Amino acid sequence: MRTTIRDIAAMKRRGKRISMITAYDYTSARIVEAAGVDIILVGDSLGQVVLGYDSTVPVTMDDMIHHISAVVRGTEKVHIVGDLPFMSYQASRSDAIRNAGRLLKEAGAQSVKLEGGRHVAKTMRRIVQSGIPVMAHIGLTPQAVHQMGGYRIQGRTTKAAIDLIEDAKAVEDAGAYALVLEGVPSQLAAIVTERLTIPTIGIGAGVHCDGQVQVFHDMMGLYTDFTPKHARKYAHLAEVMGTAVAEYIEDVRAQTFPSEDESFTLSPEVLAELTGNTGIVSQSER
Ligand code: KIV
Repeated sequence: MRTTIRDIAAMKRRGKRISMITAYDYTSARIVEAAGVDIILVGDSLGQVVLGYDSTVPVTMDDMIHHISAVVRGTEKVHIVGDLPFMSYQASRSDAIRNAGRLLKEAGAQSVKLEGGRHVAKTMRRIVQSGIPVMAHIGLTPQAVHQMGGYRIQGRTTKAAIDLIEDAKAVEDAGAYALVLEGVPSQLAAIVTERLTIPTIGIGAGVHCDGQVQVFHDMMGLYTDFTPKHARKYAHLAEVMGTAVAEYIEDVRAQTFPSEDESFTLSPEVLAELTGNTGIVSQSER
């Protein structure tokens, strides 16, 4: 049985911090699960770090289903959250329920995440009533990049902070089992965390949240276009991989790759038939 939303709720009650990391493919999901993470988020951030778009806006349901399925195949125990992409839940509640259902039925996620506070609370409630656990996401909501006028820290004025607290209460009341707080001053995240019974999971929201989430490619130093201030690089894999590829190119050019051990051989009898006796291939082709 995979980690459930009850297990996640219990972590907040017991004061155990929740670790969440994004993953988008089979291999990285296996690594992340083996390291013991509590939750994997297949985020629509894959639009940028995997597909090379300049925002999450172009990501489709098919993209999400493709990547969530791979992550599910690579894991056994960890809870998988699938992100609902832009315009998969905004246009109508029936779209929202149908698309949330697809992430569970077709891709194998255990819950879905969607962005927004009070204005999507009714939609969230309907999804939850359909039997689909929902993780909410407020503060800096990347799908609304054009409306926010860029990726800006949210909740900095008194009014914006009060709005954000009301959004947090609204999604909790709508039945969300956890809340991502992105790009929010840490004192405000602390207030929200204290006022909610559901766990808060922060990204760029300081240390007082009940858990943290990071984008795999940022943590691993794989995505070099831009590193957000909140991201800590636990590895520098772009450099490691670049060096490895350069070594490979050198070995190919120097004919030191592949070695005998990395190659396959014909039996002496077959070789003799081909080269000596039969004349099927000439010496130069050996
Ligand atoms: O898509 C994503 O990876 C996210 C996280 C940044 C929370 O929504």
